[in-house]
Amino acid sequence: MTVIVDQPQLGVDVEDKSTSTDSNELVLDGGFAVPETNSFGHTFRDYDVESERKKVVEEFYRMNHIHQSFELVSKMREEYGKLNRVEMSIWECCELLNSFVDESDPDIDEPQIEHLLQTAEAIRRDYPDEDWLHLTGLIHDLGKVLLHPSFGALPQWAVVGDTFPVGCAFDESNVHFKYFKENPDYSNPAYNTKFGVYSEGCGLDKVLMSWGHDDYMYLVSKENKTTLPSAALFIIRYHSFYPLHRSGAYKHLMNEEDVENLKWLHIFNKYDLYSKSKVRIDVEKVKPYYMSLIEKYFPAKLRW
Ligand SMILES: [Fe+2]
Ligand SMILES: [Fe+2]
Repeated sequence: MTVIVDQPQLGVDVEDKSTSTDSNELVLDGGFAVPETNSFGHTFRDYDVESERKKVVEEFYRMNHIHQSFELVSKMREEYGKLNRVEMSIWECCELLNSFVDESDPDIDEPQIEHLLQTAEAIRRDYPDEDWLHLTGLIHDLGKVLLHPSFGALPQWAVVGDTFPVGCAFDESNVHFKYFKENPDYSNPAYNTKFGVYSEGCGLDKVLMSWGHDDYMYLVSKENKTTLPSAALFIIRYHSFYPLHRSGAYKHLMNEEDVENLKWLHIFNKYDLYSKSKVRIDVEKVKPYYMSLIEKYFPAKLRW
């Protein structure tokens, strides 16, 4: 199935981690740093491929930063918060994502479900007792079904990439910050101060985040009454919030519970980004374990 979007295909998740210390490499959020060559033998260091890719990422963030306003996020949350599109189980959603996201990703040749399971299994190896964290690894990207036609086939800039609060000033640590100047909120005095519509220590759950797969999966989990702990919901909602968990921005909006949960997000993020494991996962072999976790923490069918 082809996913049609109104801008260039970027792959599953494109994040320009150009401020990271080690390199300028572009990182796919599926749990993998981009290797020297992709599945098709293109070298990322190759000048043309590299610069072409950078242009695509920059254009992605230009669209993202122009359109992700307080008004847009409010509308998206209201619309998708209705959860009136599909009824399916967590595992069915994994399979749905598996069936279409792969083809839009130029850099991986393994099924998407293996990427989800590789993140989960890597966490399981190091934190065997935290079963909630294993399940969080499996489900944190399921919100990417927003790219699917039955979820409105949202453009990539409304599904993936780094996220940030709206309703207060955009922090300069956001990648390609300059494009916020074209966002209507940038010059709106209600939204362009340090606190904007929020107050000190109000708690991140009071803060509207740019719309994407993170906030959507958070809403789905919460509204379907998951029994996952608050650290899991925190990870799901903020795993792409790089300005916070990499740069330490926006901390003035956090409350005490956020401070505690951020510790888990830092742990999680290592597995999400840097588990470069090329070990193939035998899906059928690990499936019973994850099915038991799904049963423990979620209803059999969820509204999406
Ligand atoms: Fe991820
Ligand atoms: Fe993600």
